[in-house]
Amino acid sequence: MKRFHDDRDWFFEKRYGLFVHWGLYAVPGWHEQIQWRRDIPKAEYVKLMDRFNPVAYDPEAWLDLVQDAGMEYICFTTKHHDGFCMWDTAHTEYRITNTPYGKDVLAMLAEACHRRGIRLCLYYSCPDWHHPNSLNLGASHQLDQPNPGDEPDLMKYVDYVERQIRELCTNYGQISSFFWDIPPGVNIPRLNALLRELQPGIMINDRGYGPGDYATPERRVPEGRCFTKPTEACQSVGHQSWGYREDEDYYSDRLLMGSLDKILAMGGNYLLNVGPKPDGTIPEQSAAILRRIGTWFARVKESFYDAEPASHLTANKECLLTRKGNDVYVHFPDGVACTGVTLQPIAVAPHRATVLNTGAEIRAQVELVPSWFRAGSYLRLADLPANEMGAETLVLKLEFEDLDAALKATAPAPEAQEFLL
Ligand code: GLC
Repeated sequence: MKRFHDDRDWFFEKRYGLFVHWGLYAVPGWHEQIQWRRDIPKAEYVKLMDRFNPVAYDPEAWLDLVQDAGMEYICFTTKHHDGFCMWDTAHTEYRITNTPYGKDVLAMLAEACHRRGIRLCLYYSCPDWHHPNSLNLGASHQLDQPNPGDEPDLMKYVDYVERQIRELCTNYGQISSFFWDIPPGVNIPRLNALLRELQPGIMINDRGYGPGDYATPERRVPEGRCFTKPTEACQSVGHQSWGYREDEDYYSDRLLMGSLDKILAMGGNYLLNVGPKPDGTIPEQSAAILRRIGTWFARVKESFYDAEPASHLTANKECLLTRKGNDVYVHFPDGVACTGVTLQPIAVAPHRATVLNTGAEIRAQVELVPSWFRAGSYLRLADLPANEMGAETLVLKLEFEDLDAALKATAPAPEAQEFLL
């Protein structure tokens, strides 16, 4: 993957972060887009402000969870599509400091992040269902028509956005990335330029007012075996909503582990989302998921950090490979189909092969494999705990003496040449 060779390269070192969707929509606890999806008039929706009083909000508890989960950064929704601002902005009355709670929740989070050295990233929605000048003309994630009394005016709205991002990038210390949401379809270069001016080293995503630095596949694992540009996939623990949903359908650990494994093995980053409750706490079920995934992640993470995608080394599509020096890691994001796997055309055995999850040794040998296109001698890994560990995403670790020399000595296998270095 091409790096930037500037301060943005933090992105390639910190690979796993927490996404947090929190705003007024936590109060009804249905979906972060309840205003739009249930046609709630603005005059009604704004009343949620009087009920938003997150007295149990404790950014330290959030960050304890981030660290327990093995995550290294956090991306916080400063303003979602409803337009409500979760910081003490001077540019609208529609903000957290005008609720009964009255405190700047972003300032509290920023302070805690900076103290602990956890990188802080900000989400900001381009659509806005509240600001009088925003465009609500039925385009993607816009209301079908302006609210009564509104005066849609793109350039006036952009001035508001500009004043707000200036605040966000001036008053809260270092901001490591900016997550615009819902591409507005207009190019206004001065906005990203301002972000970079105020926060040198900031990463900017691809959903804003101009091209950014990284791609953001959402709730899906893209095709392929290796990303060709910086990528941060995002996924929520809940199937229905990003914001707090009282009656959520939670994804299985298996699905989340598999997608995290695949995205990281392809060279991407992963942002896993929770929606805090109206009192400011993270739902226990969501927290438990993060902790369980974290236990697995701690055991296999050496296969991602400082490692590079190396799936081109094998023609076997059942697995993905990463490589760090002379070690090769074999990932099975979709589960292990059987108790053995062959890594054609690799024809050299490692001196040690283990299940990274547990440290248990497995068998690794070069032998004539009958089952592939044309019989040949390839590296076969056997005795995999396919059933015993079926609930976990398995990663194997293969330690070679001199991997480059070994690969050079490997004859290209028929039909597999395109996968070779
Ligand atoms: C979508 C949704 C939005 C959510 C975002 C997260 O764009 O509209 O509600 O915040 O995805 O990436």
